[in-house]
Amino acid sequence: MTLDQMVHDQSVKGWIFDLDGVITNTARYHYLAWKQLADEENLPFNEEINEKLRGISRMASLEIIIGGREYSGERKAEMTERKNRYYRALLDQLGADDILPGILPFFERLKRLGRSLAVGSASRNTEFILERLGLVSWFDGVASGSLVSRAKPAPDIFIHAAGQLGLPVKQCVVVEDAESGVTGALVGGFRTVGIGPSGRVGHAHIRLDSTEQLF
Ligand code: BG6
Ligand code: MG
Repeated sequence: MTLDQMVHDQSVKGWIFDLDGVITNTARYHYLAWKQLADEENLPFNEEINEKLRGISRMASLEIIIGGREYSGERKAEMTERKNRYYRALLDQLGADDILPGILPFFERLKRLGRSLAVGSASRNTEFILERLGLVSWFDGVASGSLVSRAKPAPDIFIHAAGQLGLPVKQCVVVEDAESGVTGALVGGFRTVGIGPSGRVGHAHIRLDSTEQLF
């Protein structure tokens, strides 16, 4: 199936978008914030480790960064809070210019066809980021990290988003850039569009190199 066919398929009524890496490229800011924390804690961290954090929740990301090292729950909570402070400070630079290419025209196209739009993201900063990007009014549902306990690759966040749209999963597409996100959407029974290299999102029904190809 091509993207055009999926867009015009009358049985597809809802489109659920991941946030980081699909709507906006916040990966750079996540990287800088984790890097600052890792440097302060003398933990090794680089772009390669950062790539493993795509779609992964904040605490699970920290667990990957600390590897086998032992820290108390309290220390880990403090470290994730510190990382988030650094991240939020960096997000102050975020604005409409940071919406990835192709996203807005694609939203317009879907809305013209009467489709519903939602966000399904692991980020607890989702609402803040959507405000900064000026995108809040586009969405009929916003499902974000704090709403479900099981993170991707569990399908929970997408199922929650479909519920907000009042649609069965079979009538929704999930657009994702993370391997764990595509897996979660497939487990949940969604149709999927993967954004990125086939080594990462090749298991999606449709794969695009970048959001530019959405339009
Ligand atoms: C995902 C990102 O969307 O959100 C991850 O891809 C990030 O890198 C996760 O760790 C959680 O984000 P936040 O904003 O709650 O720390
Ligand atoms: Mg993502």
